Amino acid sequence: MATLLVTGGAGFIGSNFVHHVIDHTDHQVVVLDKLTYAGNLASLDGLPADRFRFVQGDIADAGVVDELVGGVDAVVHYAAESHNDNSLHDPRPFLDTNIIGTYTLLEAVRRHEKRFHHISTDEVYGDLELDDPARFTEHTPYNPSSPYSSTKAGSDLLVRAWVRSFGVQATISNCSNNYGPYQHVEKFIPRQITNVIRGIRPKLYGAGENVRDWIHADDHSSAVLTILDRGVIGETYLIGADGEKNNKDVVELILSLMGQPADAYDHVTDRAGHDLRYAIDSTKLRTDLGWAPQYSDFEAGLAATIDWYRANEAWWAPTKDGVEAFYASKGQ
Ligand code: NAD
Ligand code: DAU
Repeated sequence: MATLLVTGGAGFIGSNFVHHVIDHTDHQVVVLDKLTYAGNLASLDGLPADRFRFVQGDIADAGVVDELVGGVDAVVHYAAESHNDNSLHDPRPFLDTNIIGTYTLLEAVRRHEKRFHHISTDEVYGDLELDDPARFTEHTPYNPSSPYSSTKAGSDLLVRAWVRSFGVQATISNCSNNYGPYQHVEKFIPRQITNVIRGIRPKLYGAGENVRDWIHADDHSSAVLTILDRGVIGETYLIGADGEKNNKDVVELILSLMGQPADAYDHVTDRAGHDLRYAIDSTKLRTDLGWAPQYSDFEAGLAATIDWYRANEAWWAPTKDGVEAFYASKGQ
């Protein structure tokens, strides 16, 4: 049994991880989360008070971070500004949280000699051509496109430097696009599901040919636990579940699963610098650490996610109008 400090545990993937840890281990969890627009305490409802504690605070606040890190066995670092479209509008918070926040955590784990796992993204590798059979591996050169992905790339490089220069006991994982419950309605899949529920036509950027490699958030959680248990210090692991789909196919699947005509969506202004395709080769994680995803049927996982948004309108409704007003101001 260990005590984990989970940063960003009130966000989408962090909250899924906290539920997974409580359900599948005997670890204690402390969440540190600033509760930005993307954090929601309701995502942590129902957790047992004797195994879970929530602290509201900023990962760039060295005092708060140092005290919390001193009292745990390991830090699992999810907190980030995570949305590409926001980073194109206002990059500054991405630098403060993704770079300075990660630096602040690294200094604390260095001082207290604690295990650190850094959650990152496949976007650090840039994008692939649509007709390129290649997939990202741990050896793909970094080539990020957006303010978001460049700050995540910067944070990964800080972790590598702290391992090599100061002997920090850290691992890194770079995962592909997650879907599942508790995802903010600014993101692609929840935006389109909640649009259909509200009677708004889904919005597809450009032609919709861009490909994302979808993985269920619960599979991401099991992969992170596997790396925490058996990962080799200093190593990077790519996490993916062979879930490549183009955006047009995903929108059409959402519409048909929700009983609408498959063509009942609008094409809107494309994202600036829009990455074409992401694809993960997760052979190292599967071969070296024995991990495998459980959600192999994307259509079934998507249907369950649609059911979750239908059943949890109180969770997402307070943010929906503001998100749609922001997108409308950009022609999206
Ligand atoms: P999210 O935006 O849903 O959640 C981020 C959480 O971090 C929120 O609860 C927010 O309040 C908190 N936070 C933000 N700034 C903070 C700060 N300064 N101090 C403390 N807390 C702060 O993000 P997500 O989609 O759950 O992503 C989590 C992590 O996973 C990120 O590091 C992201 O880069 C990575 N990732 C995401 C995906 C994906 O598909 N969403 C895929 C691969 C990797
Ligand atoms: O690859 C991992 C990354 O996946 C994570 O690092 C990011 O934190 C996460 O947000 C996600 O980034 P994307 O930019 O791929 O996700 P997003 O949900 O914003 O968009 C997915 C695709 O859908 C992308 O090609 C843009 C497109 N899109 C998005 C929205 C919001 C649309 O066509 N319409 C939309 O309304």
